[in-house]
Amino acid sequence: MLFHPTRRATLALFGSLFLLAGGVQAQAGKLPNVRILATGGTIAGTGATSTTTVGYTAATVGVQALIQAVPELAKVANVTGEQVFQIASENMGNEHWLQLAKRVNQLLAQPDVDGIVITHGTDTLEETAYFLNLVVKSRKPVVLVGSMRPSTALSADGPINLYNAVQLAGNPAAAGKGVLVAMNDQIHTARDVTKANTTTADTFRAAELGMIGYIQSGKPYFYREPTRKHTVDTEFDVSKLASLPQVDVAYAYANVGAVAVNALVAAGAKGLVHAGVGNGSLPANTKPALVAARAKGVVIVRSSRVGQGIVARNGEANDDQLDFVAGDNLSPQKARILLMLALTKTGDTREIQRMFNTY
Ligand code: DGL
Repeated sequence: MLFHPTRRATLALFGSLFLLAGGVQAQAGKLPNVRILATGGTIAGTGATSTTTVGYTAATVGVQALIQAVPELAKVANVTGEQVFQIASENMGNEHWLQLAKRVNQLLAQPDVDGIVITHGTDTLEETAYFLNLVVKSRKPVVLVGSMRPSTALSADGPINLYNAVQLAGNPAAAGKGVLVAMNDQIHTARDVTKANTTTADTFRAAELGMIGYIQSGKPYFYREPTRKHTVDTEFDVSKLASLPQVDVAYAYANVGAVAVNALVAAGAKGLVHAGVGNGSLPANTKPALVAARAKGVVIVRSSRVGQGIVARNGEANDDQLDFVAGDNLSPQKARILLMLALTKTGDTREIQRMFNTY
């Protein structure tokens, strides 16, 4: 049961009034063709009661049910759905990303697809969005959307988020801006957005660089453009890749040693992102392990656990001398994605530093 019976009746009343208004406007022009690729998450989740907003089961509702739960979609786009995966997004992996990216590029190459919406768990939504931002080969809109409350919850945010995402994906104004995230009436770029709260509906934020625009009554309003290269302007191509290089993240904290770094290298990491304290500082007990890893050919990126700000090259460490890469202002989890794709092209750290200064 997607909605509580009483709420369904109320929805029907408001929905029909809405459809009447929206219908007139939408019939004025041709509706865009928007494909929804469903991957799971809370937006497809169900709870035991209408007040269950934690402790629910993610990834249980299929894409057709998600579409049917929002009849207003039919008035703003020709929507079709595809269940690509049905997983909680903490389980998203490289193989999922490669499959999803290839399907997105295949669909966007079709003239009868104007935009794509990807429904996704919020835990790793920012990572999938950034990965696609670097490998989608189209200017057409690709919009990731999730929800923070399951479909069965009081004031579930999934339906309105999905409605907004479909409107955004079908709107030519969203083209050429890279992969976007539409949640909570806000539009974010894939590069700058992050999940900033464990449970609240306003969790997706770009704390210092800000959102790129709003969605209000189904219409997008943009106020800035992305400045880093994305989609058609990137050098990365996953179309012929069956796997991605193993890249891991080692987190720094007071009293940290070298165990994690050594273990990740021993397990076969080809690249390592160090989520340093402050401006990417290297603790004395960890630095020798990173130097040894570099000597074995592992590419090291200095990032920061802080969350905002630039990790400056040759700032807290002599990257020139250590032959490390400075991770700019990317979070460690996004630096991992860029390093993974960089390693599909080169192991040259000067080239990889250029990539971190470019994307
Ligand atoms: N298991 C989490 C996920 O699939 C639920 C969080 C959510 O989707 O909002 O990301």
